[in-house]
Amino acid sequence: MRLQTQLTLAFTTLLVITMTIVSITIHSLLLNVLIQNEKDQLQEKGEMLSQFLYSEVVPSNFSHWLNNEELYLFVYNRSIDRVMLYSRSLDLELIHDWVERYDLTQKQQPLWFDGENQYVVSIISIYPELLDEELVLITPLDHIQEIQQIFFNRLMIVFLIGILVIIILTHYLTHRLVTPLTQLKYQLKKIEKRQFDDVKRVKASGEIKEVEKSVVDMANELERYMKSQQQFFQNASHELKTPLMTIQGYAEGIKDGVFQGEDSDRGLEVIVAEIGRLKKIINEMILLAKLDSNEDVYHEEDIYVSQLVQSTVDRTIPMATEQQIALNHQIYNDAVIHVDQEKMLQAMLNIVTNAIRHAKTKVYIEVLEKDGRLQIIVDDDGNGVDDALIPQLFERFIKGKDGETGLGLAISRAIVERSHGTIRAEHSPLGGARFVITF
Ligand SMILES: Nc1ncnc2c1ncn2[C@@H]1O[C@H](COP(=O)(O)OP(=O)(O)OP(=O)(O)O)[C@@H](O)[C@H]1O
Ligand SMILES: [Mg+2]
Repeated sequence: MRLQTQLTLAFTTLLVITMTIVSITIHSLLLNVLIQNEKDQLQEKGEMLSQFLYSEVVPSNFSHWLNNEELYLFVYNRSIDRVMLYSRSLDLELIHDWVERYDLTQKQQPLWFDGENQYVVSIISIYPELLDEELVLITPLDHIQEIQQIFFNRLMIVFLIGILVIIILTHYLTHRLVTPLTQLKYQLKKIEKRQFDDVKRVKASGEIKEVEKSVVDMANELERYMKSQQQFFQNASHELKTPLMTIQGYAEGIKDGVFQGEDSDRGLEVIVAEIGRLKKIINEMILLAKLDSNEDVYHEEDIYVSQLVQSTVDRTIPMATEQQIALNHQIYNDAVIHVDQEKMLQAMLNIVTNAIRHAKTKVYIEVLEKDGRLQIIVDDDGNGVDDALIPQLFERFIKGKDGETGLGLAISRAIVERSHGTIRAEHSPLGGARFVITF
């Protein structure tokens, strides 16, 4: 069943249940209220009547009023047990029966019964200090029930109109709520078919807007991932093809006798070197794949950052000296980090060897605390990284000028992220590139 139908149905059911309960309550309360109201009115009329009954000054139109009011009444004298007066519409036998059956001295009377119908009764004592007479006023319950029914019917009409309006309103509101979801479903279908360019924004509000935003973000991320994956395969096959072609060229040349003597030896040297390069690329790709997967390749332990930097410097000093680059470091704040020591060293080596390769005269490593986070910063005074390259710098096989394989920084990022850190590249105050690892 569609969501809109479900919501409208749920609302309507709830509404009908509530209205039914309210109607039943009103129906039962209404009769009591009407009976009480009738009793009060009878009381008022009775008190007025009792003043005129035995007085000489009876207004001229009194009997006319009495007929108009269609009152059922009788006067009963208790001391002589006689009905003194009664309306023509009442039967004397019935009055005697009532007088015997009900206690007229009680102020509050129950509903009287004549075998068929029920009556609302009000009793007024006439000159209680002089006479022992009671004026009894009576209204058939039928009359009140008729009023109750009319009132109730009107109420029902109002309720029905109300329910109808609410259902229409619910339908409209749920339609507004559900439409963005339906549109979102179509956009998701497009994402499923990888038609990323056709994905359109959907107008929505509240939580649905948040979901919509997540869907768009997801689509963008998926598109980016798929493109990078595609590029990765293209780059990887290219990187692997070049050394293989060199190897094939030399191997065939040697086999066919094209390369002989010294040339043949040089060819073999190139073959060995290229095989070494291939092995390095493949090993790095395997490492990256392992870091990507949840495989148990990352063994964390507590180490001091100073210790990590010192190991990095120890291993890169020979390279720096050879290239006449000054390699300095400064630890402003030392701290313990929870990382895989060997892999983290590998990440640092990738960054620092890059820096030494690109630097003109110096490379500077510093460790400091900023905004409560620990940062390892590597600066060099080389030519820096092109702004256009920075966003993809850490992707696989992405290399700039003087690049080698383009896997080093991808490996560094994978390792840093496995240690719950982040890495970014920017411009260095020294003029070259700056790499910042944040924990
Ligand atoms: N300190 C730096 N100064 C200028 N450019 C840099 C620096 N570090 C990295 N780069 C640029 O970033 C690119 C990617 O670096 P990365 O270390 O990933 O690959 P690579 O050094 O080319 O190859 P390898 O996989 O052998 O490390 C490099 O090709 C280079 O152009
Ligand atoms: Mg590198």
